[in-house]
Amino acid sequence: MIARVSSDIPNFSESLSAAIPGISLNIMALIIFSGVLIYLSWQLALVVFATLPFYNISINTFNKKLKKLSKLEREKNSKVMEGIRESIEGTLTIKRFNKSNYFIEALKSYINDWIKASNKHNLFIQSIEDFITFIRGICPIIVLSFGGYLVMKGDITLGTLIGFYSFMNWIYEPVRVISHFFISLQSTIPVFKRIKEIHEMEEETSGLELLNKVKNIEYRNVYFSYDSIPILEGLNLKIRSNERIAIVGESGSGKTTVIKLVMRYFNVDKGNILVNGKSIVEYSLHDLRRKIIVVHQNDFLFNMSIRENILLGEKFSEKEFTNAIKVACIDKFINELGKGYDTIVGERGTRLSDGQKQRIAIARAVIRKPDVLILDEATSGIDSQTEAEIFKNLQNLNITVIIISHRLSTIKKADRIIVLHKGRVICEGNHENLLKNCRKYNDIIRNQLIVV
Ligand SMILES: Nc1ncnc2c1ncn2[C@@H]1O[C@H](COP(=O)(O)OP(=O)(O)O)[C@@H](O)[C@H]1O
Ligand SMILES: [Mg+2]
Repeated sequence: MIARVSSDIPNFSESLSAAIPGISLNIMALIIFSGVLIYLSWQLALVVFATLPFYNISINTFNKKLKKLSKLEREKNSKVMEGIRESIEGTLTIKRFNKSNYFIEALKSYINDWIKASNKHNLFIQSIEDFITFIRGICPIIVLSFGGYLVMKGDITLGTLIGFYSFMNWIYEPVRVISHFFISLQSTIPVFKRIKEIHEMEEETSGLELLNKVKNIEYRNVYFSYDSIPILEGLNLKIRSNERIAIVGESGSGKTTVIKLVMRYFNVDKGNILVNGKSIVEYSLHDLRRKIIVVHQNDFLFNMSIRENILLGEKFSEKEFTNAIKVACIDKFINELGKGYDTIVGERGTRLSDGQKQRIAIARAVIRKPDVLILDEATSGIDSQTEAEIFKNLQNLNITVIIISHRLSTIKKADRIIVLHKGRVICEGNHENLLKNCRKYNDIIRNQLIVV
């Protein structure tokens, strides 16, 4: 995406803006000069025109290969961009594993591939243009021989031949520019296609129905797969207002996917997700994502202040702000930071600890007063005492809370625990119930959850 924006778009606009003004002037010049040549001698003009199709032929013959080479060059360019981006973002991991050389070599090979592809592409363009110059080179020989014959026959005068000959070269410049335009157009088409692909990406579709309050959520026989790998296979789940639900399951069992579906990051393959009895696709996306808010494990923090990261440009009263801060237990650490809420968090929040980042993400969600708050391993970096405090604060808000967590102390407190396995809900109930009746729940506790 970044390569397309930062490299393809300038590339495309440059070639168009260079070519378009030139092309119309040269077409005009071509018409005028052709008129003059015909006026001087139509027989010789015919000879000159007869060589022009060669330009077309050469362009048409080579354009398929040219498009292929241009596409390859763009792809290799993307690879270089991607490599640079990853080495910058992954610096810490690269250094920690002493892998600088490995990544430098990889980047070198991407750059080499790109240079090779770029050279091939440019050489090919050059050889087409050389071929055209070659045709242009033989044309005067034909004109002079045929013209000499016409002079001897008395059809034209020597003066006309000399005039024609010196004027003839004028026609080749516009022809060269026009053919060059078509050649570079061939290279530009793949670039254009890459840009077009972004434009043609399917946009999110929003329903029109307004959503005032989420009273209940129901997953009804939901099927979902990523790239035809089934993840959810007939999932049924009802969530009522003000409930505290915990979802547990082995890692990779589809817990996050369940959440992504209700947020409409993806649409279900089969079945339905209903809010207040109506399919979620009918609701305005804006409303849906305002009333149901999820905090992910590594929610994105922008390189702005803590306050700005929470507000995200929206107006909230100071009271609402302080309230959200308290719920998320940010007030516990804010004094340790130099500038309090105006402290800049750094790119992706690098200047904060994981637990601090997560608490900012929670405050960002809480301040918006959702009806349903979903915490998807959003407290994994927070110590269990603070986590317990946050959950206690959330309970006082009278909203539905869905928690995905690996901490038993957290899960235990839920009104209802949902056990996810092989794309379905296999057990549900409170902790004691499940301990008695659900083998999988016992397995999970024994093998996976960190008991605190
Ligand atoms: N965007 C994606 N594309 C393809 N596969 C994915 C994607 N996201 C998750 N998966 C796969 O779907 C399965 C369930 O993932 P997830 O819902 O994140 O599990 P959990 O949150 O329970 O650990 C995993 O096997 C994972 O590899
Ligand atoms: Mg997950």
